[in-house]
Amino acid sequence: MAKRKPLISGNWKMNHTHLDAIAVVQKLAYTLSQADYERADVSVHPAFTALRSVQTLLDADSIPIALGAQDVHPAESGAFTGEVSPPMLAKLNVSYVIVGHSERRQLFGETDEQVNQKLLAVLKHEMSPICCVGETLEEREAGETEAKVLGQLQADLKGVSKEALARVVIAYEPIWAIGTGRNASPEDAQAVCKAIRTALAERFGAELAAGVRAQYGGSVTPANIGDLMAQEDVDGALVGGASLDPEKFAQIVRWR
Ligand code: PGA
Repeated sequence: MAKRKPLISGNWKMNHTHLDAIAVVQKLAYTLSQADYERADVSVHPAFTALRSVQTLLDADSIPIALGAQDVHPAESGAFTGEVSPPMLAKLNVSYVIVGHSERRQLFGETDEQVNQKLLAVLKHEMSPICCVGETLEEREAGETEAKVLGQLQADLKGVSKEALARVVIAYEPIWAIGTGRNASPEDAQAVCKAIRTALAERFGAELAAGVRAQYGGSVTPANIGDLMAQEDVDGALVGGASLDPEKFAQIVRWR
């Protein structure tokens, strides 16, 4: 079995000005210790407006928190008003880029094809995509969870090479659990993360699939992280609401 280092990611969504972001990272860095960073990789995903400020702070104080972005445009540059390109993020030392978050898919109409283009662009620029997949409540109740998630996985990872796969992170985020206070049971999270790994094994081979990190996301809190992390195929969490507060996020990073 490949040893996977867990990844705990804070997706701040459209919250925190660059000044708030600096204060949050300072508190986080003050709370977390070397032992925490050895146990898990930690990333924060501020809004685009705060990336430069957070990068400067992380660099200046040698804080081992990875910088992440919440989205990206697949093109290198061009006439795409309002968009941000992969080279722009790479130059800011961004390590992880969320692609295909359900809010992007639902509120901004992103398709699997677009998610796939973004994911490939992130890989091309030597960053790691965190590719979000997940079912709606209707799909879950109709027993279509695996079909939906594995369908997204296959479409979103189209054209990914075996070499690049090691950099891909999958976030299983049931849409009904996001921001609702209603999280998937640890057993449900495990079942879907395992199904994801099995599908990856069929396509890329068991050895490579065993090295891919699968996060769970959706109403993760300090109270439920321990049971989620106890699951064999759950390799971390993508945390929204609870990541805005540095104390809560630090408790999640230090799960027991
Ligand atoms: P939540 O968001 O933790 O607030 O449910 C998770 C996410 O959207 O990644």
